[in-house]
Amino acid sequence: MVSEEIRKKFLDFFIHRDHKLVGSYSLVPSDPSVLLTSAGMQQFKAYYTDGVDADKDFGSRNVVSVQKCFRTSDIDEVGDETHLTFFEMLGNFSFGGYFKKEAIKLAHEFITQTLGLKIDYVTIFGGDEDVPEDEESREIWRAIDPGMKVIGAGRKDNFWGPTGSEGPCGPTTEIYVNGVEVWNLVFNEFYLRPDGKLERLESPGVDTGCGLERLTAVMDGSGHIFETDIFGETVEKIKELKPDLEEKVVRIFADHLRACCFLIADGIRPANKEAGYILRRLIRKLIAYELKFDFHTSSLTEVPAIIVRKFQDIYPELDENQITEVLDEERTKFKTAISRGLKELADCQRLTAAEAFHLYETYGLPFDLIKEMAPSDLGQNLSYKDFENEFGKHQEVSRAGVERKFGGHGLLLDTGELKATDEQELRRVTRLHTATHLMQAALKKVLGDKIEQRGSDITTERTRFDFLFDRKLTDDEIRQVEDLVNDVIQRDLPVNFEEMPLEQAKETGALYFFKGKYPPVVKVYYVGSSIKNAFSKELCGGPHAERTGEMGKFRIRQQKAVAEGVRRIKADLEEL
Ligand code: ALA
Repeated sequence: MVSEEIRKKFLDFFIHRDHKLVGSYSLVPSDPSVLLTSAGMQQFKAYYTDGVDADKDFGSRNVVSVQKCFRTSDIDEVGDETHLTFFEMLGNFSFGGYFKKEAIKLAHEFITQTLGLKIDYVTIFGGDEDVPEDEESREIWRAIDPGMKVIGAGRKDNFWGPTGSEGPCGPTTEIYVNGVEVWNLVFNEFYLRPDGKLERLESPGVDTGCGLERLTAVMDGSGHIFETDIFGETVEKIKELKPDLEEKVVRIFADHLRACCFLIADGIRPANKEAGYILRRLIRKLIAYELKFDFHTSSLTEVPAIIVRKFQDIYPELDENQITEVLDEERTKFKTAISRGLKELADCQRLTAAEAFHLYETYGLPFDLIKEMAPSDLGQNLSYKDFENEFGKHQEVSRAGVERKFGGHGLLLDTGELKATDEQELRRVTRLHTATHLMQAALKKVLGDKIEQRGSDITTERTRFDFLFDRKLTDDEIRQVEDLVNDVIQRDLPVNFEEMPLEQAKETGALYFFKGKYPPVVKVYYVGSSIKNAFSKELCGGPHAERTGEMGKFRIRQQKAVAEGVRRIKADLEEL
């Protein structure tokens, strides 16, 4: 196994040269400026600056590690020959021990002598208005090998860090073998302050990173990470499960599934934000691939087994049962929604950022998935920036919504969502608003107290109400809900409100939108002669009909699922 040889040779090489071996840190980072651990140096950040004594902690100023890393920034690149989301980074570090000369010599010796590879060329920091060219590194390379091609490059390519708004940083020198960038040597000689100024560090340090997968690809002559022993069996298994898959899909599947295994093993669970969302995105993509290419569902079970077997000796935290359990649970939750979303996407004639956002919001399709799976070349012009703008707009609307409407009905009186431009329209939406309260009360009576409002939207034509419920309503249930509401309408009950402190309002048993932000004093709208015996009571800002008798006949027109476990009903009132 070429990768195992390299791993061992790398560690032995540095251990024999006074480095202490430090284990990989978790993918859940020690560095709060990143969502996931993305470099070997992150667990050592304090040793470059805070005067923390490496000697005391490690028994040496020099350490070596193989760090589990995840880079979201490379996610769109996955599928080519050199990019991955999850990878292992070989690295040697020095905290005030050695500096440029020693670091470059060590790297050169390891690549050319231990591994017997030939360096094509190296790059160094070419200088800009803040920091001069790293001439020292150029001279060190030349002294080692007078024929070495040394190329100066800018800040983007040859200046590391910091991660976050401040921290250690400095010029880098990169080593290229067979056209592949294999090793990045960082010389942390500065500290970037929060005000943007660079300060020289008292005791500069070395931080290096060399991707194990890339180095293996260079060593075994394939030049291709997915053709190394690291991915060999995984790729084979995927091809066995689905022989006609496009090569790129096989690679993305292999990368994402391996990344999921490692993220899950480090305790990350699918969620809607931060690291959990990164995992969820990867899993959703795998599910989408399963659906689109008609994989047998066992692929999310059979492939992880191979990955776990391959890495378990080194990373015993990988637990096959745990991994398949998390993957299975996500699949059960999202398969139906994703499949609906993919269908809608496949039928798309146009794909604006707003439409992409709709697919994201309704079916949970992540942006990159939409872009990749859009029919013909509709995804090509879709930019992440525009998508993010839509995201921002949506958040603003819902924030405004929460502030302006106490009841959470989506009745955005002054945001334009509720188009009541004249008295007549206002009367219509007001009646539909009252009908929505009656419908929610009736739904609870028919379906049980479990149902919970998720959203609502009222126009002059209809009310739309989303709630937690995990199946289709039967015709009989629909009729019962309609009958209950129409009965209240026929009895011509009064609609009133009482103002009271929030806590007291909640104690009346009035419904309220769980996620709503309420002021300290609220109105409780109720339908009936008193709050106590009311058919419906809800915390709400109004406005409402004065009596139910003025509302007209209530009809449910449509029901459907809008997301996993969320149903949507559209209903209207026939004019009297
Ligand atoms: N911290 C440097 C990198 O990750 C070595 O490339």
